[in-house]
Amino acid sequence: MDNRLKIKKRMVSGIKPTGSSLTLGNYLGAIKRFVKYQNEYDLYLFIADLHALTLPIDPNELRENTKNLLATYLAAGLDYHKCVIFKQSEIPEHTQLEWILTCNTDLPDLTKMPQYKNYKDTHKKQSVPSGMLMYPSLMNADILLYASDSECIVPVGLDQKPHVDLTRFVAENFNKRYPNTFTLPVPLIAEQGAKIMSLSDPTKKMSKSESDIGTIYLSDDEETIYKKIKKATTDGEGKIYYDPENKPGISNLLTIYACIKNISIKDAEKQFTKQKDYGIFKKEVAKAVCDEIIPLQNRIKQINQRFILNEILEEGRQKAELIATNKLNEVYRKVGLK
Ligand code: AMP
Ligand code: TRP
Repeated sequence: MDNRLKIKKRMVSGIKPTGSSLTLGNYLGAIKRFVKYQNEYDLYLFIADLHALTLPIDPNELRENTKNLLATYLAAGLDYHKCVIFKQSEIPEHTQLEWILTCNTDLPDLTKMPQYKNYKDTHKKQSVPSGMLMYPSLMNADILLYASDSECIVPVGLDQKPHVDLTRFVAENFNKRYPNTFTLPVPLIAEQGAKIMSLSDPTKKMSKSESDIGTIYLSDDEETIYKKIKKATTDGEGKIYYDPENKPGISNLLTIYACIKNISIKDAEKQFTKQKDYGIFKKEVAKAVCDEIIPLQNRIKQINQRFILNEILEEGRQKAELIATNKLNEVYRKVGLK
């Protein structure tokens, strides 16, 4: 068949506007991949601002983070003519569908989700906000609203895979009761970079809430990036090769290098096989990170000065709304609300 006539598969994903800056993990595990996918898929990409309310957040900070996340999407190369970029809270169908899906989800399926369980286990003395429990149910709605006639692909980091597996399970059960409503979504986990680890403790995920020294933020300056990578935890062997179990620090640095350079980990390894000096290796990794991130920061600044952000979101809202209204109407009819 003529390739130009092929209908692109639908893809949907989002990032929470929590934290004033995204991390290198968000960038390599999510955003950099989205830039590539926008050419291959019919991509619906949103700012998960409702999910950002799960834990208390200052209203001005949320507004600022939202603006900054949109600028980061654009600066990284996401083109709002090629994909649909919007704010989750501007499509009320997300929360409307969430309620219907919640009524079709068993409580243990939510309580066993690792993110909820981890939070509960690490905050034993505090009460757990119910949003923490409902978080995956809102994700189910985020995804299933856009689950079109063909497969719906959901690119996420490894930490989010259990949530997408739950979406599939909930959709399957919903279809048993109300046949042919949703196509089953498929998680897409990157072969490399699906879990960038903390620099200070490479057995843990690099995250926005982690210690400053273990996390590279997209807002870090060159000196800070070099300093953090120089201090990264490694081992005493003096050999550079990929073995995440026994050499998590070196393996994480090799992964970062490979993702940035768009090469395989095997090829990254080859470049450093003769290198015994971890200091020189770390400098090479830091240079690669800076070469990618410093120009990105400049583009974010320029985009923030251009003040077209609201128009982009409005255009995205209109396109997303069309799909979301259709799907919700169909669900309303199936369950008897219409
Ligand atoms: P969040 O900041 O939690 O909204 O995450 C946004 C996206 O970035 C999700 O797809 C996550 O799975 C991904 N992500 C977050 N941290 C990392 C990491 N350390 N490595 C790879 N992907 C990540
Ligand atoms: N929970 C996701 C995260 O923290 C963000 C998100 C919200 C998402 N809804 C989604 C990702 C739907 C993919 C699909 O990373």
